[in-house]
Amino acid sequence: MELSVLPLHKHPTYLLECCHLINAQWKRSETARLRSLENSCDTLPVNLILVKEGKVIGHAKLSRLPSIKDACFVESVVISESLRGQGFGSYLMQKAEEYCIKQLHLKFIYLSTTDQQKFYRKLGYVECEPVSIYGGASLKKDLQNNFCLINTSVNVCNSKINVPKPPPLPNVPVYNKRVVTYMFKSLNI
Ligand code: ACO
Repeated sequence: MELSVLPLHKHPTYLLECCHLINAQWKRSETARLRSLENSCDTLPVNLILVKEGKVIGHAKLSRLPSIKDACFVESVVISESLRGQGFGSYLMQKAEEYCIKQLHLKFIYLSTTDQQKFYRKLGYVECEPVSIYGGASLKKDLQNNFCLINTSVNVCNSKINVPKPPPLPNVPVYNKRVVTYMFKSLNI
């Protein structure tokens, strides 16, 4: 079977297909999605696509994690719905890890998930403290000090001007009323 994991920016002909794959799982405007995908580059962020027989069947985004040295944050891991449960997700993650080691010289991968803990545990990821993708080593301080909006991409919005009074802070990060679990894996290099 012809299967390859490729950096999207080196194969821009797959942009639209990749956009549709991600949007089938997480609906967003096509323009915004394409703009985000076009940011893929040789360093970070990079969008990796899993291509099977000329079709995009999977995607994973590796993002910057400035708060932690030699690490990146994996987001938007998705496999075409009809092909799930056949090992493609595991294969994509394995190749993403290899990419982190060989191309990006990273030592750790972090991620967050609301419902795929079992999948990531199988791949060797373990639960950890929340991490911020914006500078601070932990979200805890952000949660104490700022009005935080947390989504699957772990975006923390720190608005200091004319913001409404923030709601009570959650004890744990939540997204759509579901607890967000943070996980990481040491790449052992
Ligand atoms: N719950 C429990 N176990 C699971 C699940 C699940 N939802 N998904 C996969 N597994 C198990 C499989 O049973 C399999 O175990 P096995 O080896 O004993 O059979 C193992 O995990 C590996 O499964 P794969 O077939 O490699 O996984 P798949 O190709 O289905 O990809 C993925 C997994 C990416 C989570 C896919 O199901 C998907 O696209 N889901 C919807 C989008 C999503 O939730 N993405 C993750 C968001 S979190 C993030 O991006 C960091």
